Amino acid sequence: MSDSLKEVGVIIGEASSSEFFFSSKPGEMPSRWEYLLTYSEEDIDGKPTQVEVVAQIERVISASQALTKELDFEIIKKIIESGLADRKVWGKARVLGYLTESGDLQQPKKAVIPGKPVYIAPTELLEKYYSYPEKEAIKIGTLITRSEVPVSLSIKGFRRHLALIAQTGAGKTYLAGIVADELLKKGATIIMLDPHADYVFLSRKTDGKRHDLSDRMTVFRNPASTGRYTEGDVGKIQPYEICFSDLDLDEICLISGISSHYTNIVTGLGKTLELLKAEKTVFQPKDLLEKLKDADQWKSDDIDPKITEGAKSAAKYLARLIKMRVFTDATTSVKEMLRPMHLSVVDLSGLDDEVSDYIAFRILTDIYEKVASGEFEYPVFVFVEEAHRFIPAKDSTYSSGIIKKIAAEGRKFGVFLVVITQRPSKIHADALSQCNSQIIMRITNPQDQNAVASSSERLGETLLNDLPGLNTGEAVIVGEMTRAPIMARIKKRTTREGGSDIDIIGKMNDAVSKAKEETLDNESERLRKEMKGFLDSDEEQEHHG
Ligand SMILES: Nc1ncnc2c1ncn2[C@@H]1O[C@H](COP(=O)(O)OP(=O)(O)OP(=O)(O)O)[C@@H](O)[C@H]1O
Ligand SMILES: [Mg+2]
Repeated sequence: MSDSLKEVGVIIGEASSSEFFFSSKPGEMPSRWEYLLTYSEEDIDGKPTQVEVVAQIERVISASQALTKELDFEIIKKIIESGLADRKVWGKARVLGYLTESGDLQQPKKAVIPGKPVYIAPTELLEKYYSYPEKEAIKIGTLITRSEVPVSLSIKGFRRHLALIAQTGAGKTYLAGIVADELLKKGATIIMLDPHADYVFLSRKTDGKRHDLSDRMTVFRNPASTGRYTEGDVGKIQPYEICFSDLDLDEICLISGISSHYTNIVTGLGKTLELLKAEKTVFQPKDLLEKLKDADQWKSDDIDPKITEGAKSAAKYLARLIKMRVFTDATTSVKEMLRPMHLSVVDLSGLDDEVSDYIAFRILTDIYEKVASGEFEYPVFVFVEEAHRFIPAKDSTYSSGIIKKIAAEGRKFGVFLVVITQRPSKIHADALSQCNSQIIMRITNPQDQNAVASSSERLGETLLNDLPGLNTGEAVIVGEMTRAPIMARIKKRTTREGGSDIDIIGKMNDAVSKAKEETLDNESERLRKEMKGFLDSDEEQEHHG
């Protein structure tokens, strides 16, 4: 291999098995983040064996002994003019490891050796490092520093939960669309909780044509939703409905905020529900409310007055439930979503936060039950966009309990989370810390950086410091889906985006044209009126004349 290798320096000073310094000729120093190769010796199966150690440049320093900051500017110029100015450059590199014959990454146990040459890591070597065999690979882009090196994530890494974190506009949704698309191609069952209708066009290609797998994608929407896009834009939308009469007592107490400690209220409500169910198979919250208010009229001697009082008190709690415009006369089974190799987008746009949260709770609870009981046997990936809304740091929501449960237990049964958020400091720490893989894009807010740092021990200080410098569509990836931390540039999407940035300049140009048109219209209207007044007065004069 060494024939084609480009030597860029030699190892200097103190070197260890995890980092080293190297010196380069000025002008030959590669840039920061470049990948290097050096040879080292490791004991493999008891034999000293030469291995290819890959490292990444963390820092590049240039300095001069002659040109020091104590010197006066004129003197500095004179030294330069007389050709006495020296310049040296050196870099610090972090060792990533070497690959074994079976393709696993190993950390060297021995230090690399000062005096040994360092080379630019060749493309083929990096490809082996950052790619996986086709059946295992989720292809997401290329290395930032080496655009010819493709980067893929290992599906095996998705056996743990994934967090996708970045500030607004950094490219989370764009990337999540790619990951979902790639996972679907590999046979995944995917449910996407989508508060802004960002994913409703995944079944369309960027050129507007249908995706090859469009038959395996469904958009669901609750009839109460006003939606961001119409069926005309999106194509067929399946209703996701919840029939109030299918709810059990616990769930009604949960939505109404009735604590299980209020025994009389809970029992009163339970009794009312029982009576109502005996009368009607399908009913609405307002029917329950009427029945509760009617508790005095119950003709039954064996009912404890405390219970009828409890029922009447329960009525006060129902206000929230009555306002929740989500219930219809039928219930959509989660089986419609739990289909092998199928992607379901749950479009929550145009719904109150509380209703979105409740729908998320229903869907996730049902999914968890079906998978944990073995009724559905294939891996399920749940994408939670804007996860801080569903599982906030402090408050509890309808869905926060089940999300925490999936975060803690889901992987045992094959339910995996993809938690997407722009506010890691506002999301519950348990949910983030359960994510063993993280894709982090640009983050400039120090509070959010700290939240990311404390949830991932794999994200070293250097990578953390690099987060503000990332461009849109660039990501740092750490955890079980890669052999070593990666800095990747995300590839272009082949599917249509929903919530991409609006073309602000184009739209404002349109506004200028529209405004001009209006001014012209107003002007011609004014002229028309003036003309009419003029003609009318002429006519009048003629009349009189
Ligand atoms: N890899 C990429 N290549 C090209 N364009 C990209 C890439 N990633 C993101 N963009 C563009 O950047 C803009 C913002 O991306 P995106 O909507 O994914 O950001 P976000 O992180 O989800 O933001 P928010 O938190 O506000 O939802 C979009 O217009 C998108 O088209
Ligand atoms: Mg987004």
